[in-house]
Amino acid sequence: MESNQQPGSLTVIGGQWGDEGKGKIVDLLSARVAAAIRYNGGNNAGHTVKFADRHFALHFIPSGIIHPQVRCYMGSWMVIDPKELLGEIDSLQDQGIDVMRRLFLSERATIILPTHRALDGAREAARGAGSIGTTKRGIGPAYQDRAQRRALTATLLTDPKRFGERAVQVMTAHNRELELLYDAEPVGLDTARDELEAAAARLAPLVTEIGPKILEHLTHQEPVLFEGAQGVMLDLFQGTYPFVTSSSCLPGAAAISCGIPVQTLGPTVGVMKAYVTRVGGGPFPTELTNAAGDHLRKRGNEFGTTTGRPRRCGWFDAAAARFAARVGGLDGIALTKLDVLDDLDEIQVAVGYRHPDGTIITEPPSDLEKLATLDPVYETLPGWRSNTAGTLEIESLPAQARAYISFLERQVGVPVVLVSTGPRRKETFALGDSNLASTLRRLAGGLDQPIQKR
Ligand code: GDP
Ligand code: IMO
Ligand code: MG
Repeated sequence: MESNQQPGSLTVIGGQWGDEGKGKIVDLLSARVAAAIRYNGGNNAGHTVKFADRHFALHFIPSGIIHPQVRCYMGSWMVIDPKELLGEIDSLQDQGIDVMRRLFLSERATIILPTHRALDGAREAARGAGSIGTTKRGIGPAYQDRAQRRALTATLLTDPKRFGERAVQVMTAHNRELELLYDAEPVGLDTARDELEAAAARLAPLVTEIGPKILEHLTHQEPVLFEGAQGVMLDLFQGTYPFVTSSSCLPGAAAISCGIPVQTLGPTVGVMKAYVTRVGGGPFPTELTNAAGDHLRKRGNEFGTTTGRPRRCGWFDAAAARFAARVGGLDGIALTKLDVLDDLDEIQVAVGYRHPDGTIITEPPSDLEKLATLDPVYETLPGWRSNTAGTLEIESLPAQARAYISFLERQVGVPVVLVSTGPRRKETFALGDSNLASTLRRLAGGLDQPIQKR
């Protein structure tokens, strides 16, 4: 990306354990794009978009939908709960967003059935203390059926009767599992079938082969933005397995999900908070279980967009971020929630992990039992103890905040190209004069003024 060529596409992914502020960043960068594409996950995701006095929470639909010129696509690596997707569409339409005419769903996407949701809950309960803390939206069981080659795909939505029949077959098998393995209530098949058929009839017009449509945008040099859900550390293959989600959150998954050549993918921006949060179980080396963690949770309003669960909070983990930058191939970082650190006297950053024998490693190991034996190695930086909320240029940040950003850049080895100082669209600025920073300014429609007022 160091040529002067304007990239046709940009990918935005989570660089930590999800909830980094991807929704805000994708919305911001969608001011001038022709298409926005969600390529993984389902309604385990919760992406917040705020501007002026408006507030949206997106779960399936790309966060670019708020801008009226953007065509939105949902890829084949997504899992779709028909009724829930319709609920989201209706809620957006009620809020004045025109959705139906510019939303497209890959005919190859996997359907989440009501029994997947029930299985998700039953399996989590059976795991007891070792539970993953899933969102219980049926995500894992739906992807499991996909791998087991008995999933229903969105193409069936175009034939509601056949969809209903096939769904009943699969749900019957699920119900047996619920009753026999988990001693759980089976799902009522008649109601489920009626609801699925009704939802299919409404969703049918959205179902299509999305790859050629996305390629057409690119052929016409129209900017396209791919939006990853979750984050690198929740990736099924590269994350803290088994405490991960069931899809790939990495940029390459965008090509697979859409059925387009990997060569069409442009640079990748990884969104990272200025600290770290995680929802659900699993390792979190820099977690703060004390008053400092409570402070971050309160100041950062760290409660799940999807489940409302309190998020675990901790210091920025540069070792995990370094790993995420490597496997995610990050070209730049969008650093969010800097303002949440405003009140702190001192800020710590983990720069590596120490083995019991004293040796230090710079990236997390894949073996979680080994990871549990390591201690983060912290460096302490001075806080700035002043208000940065809404700051719109680097020069206006206190010196300590600028030093903090530079420190993170050096530690992670990737430039910070966007800084977010508040939840609203305009509370953001691009950093530096790299090609990527210029591209981001252009996509956002200029970053010095409010991007879009309503
Ligand atoms: P996503 O899943 O990555 O889209 O992130 P979520 O929407 O789940 O969570 C991010 C939360 O942080 C949302 O409530 C946003 O409104 C909020 N947010 C995003 N950027 C900033 C920021 O720079 N400062 C503050 N204070 N809040 C932010
Ligand atoms: P966004 O896109 C944060 C977590 C769950 C759980 C694990 C597996 O908003 O960043 P799942 O329901 O996917 O089987 O749960 O993954 N998780 C998320 N955490 N943000 C998300 O999405 C998440 N999606 C899943 O909490 O630990
Ligand atoms: Mg979220």
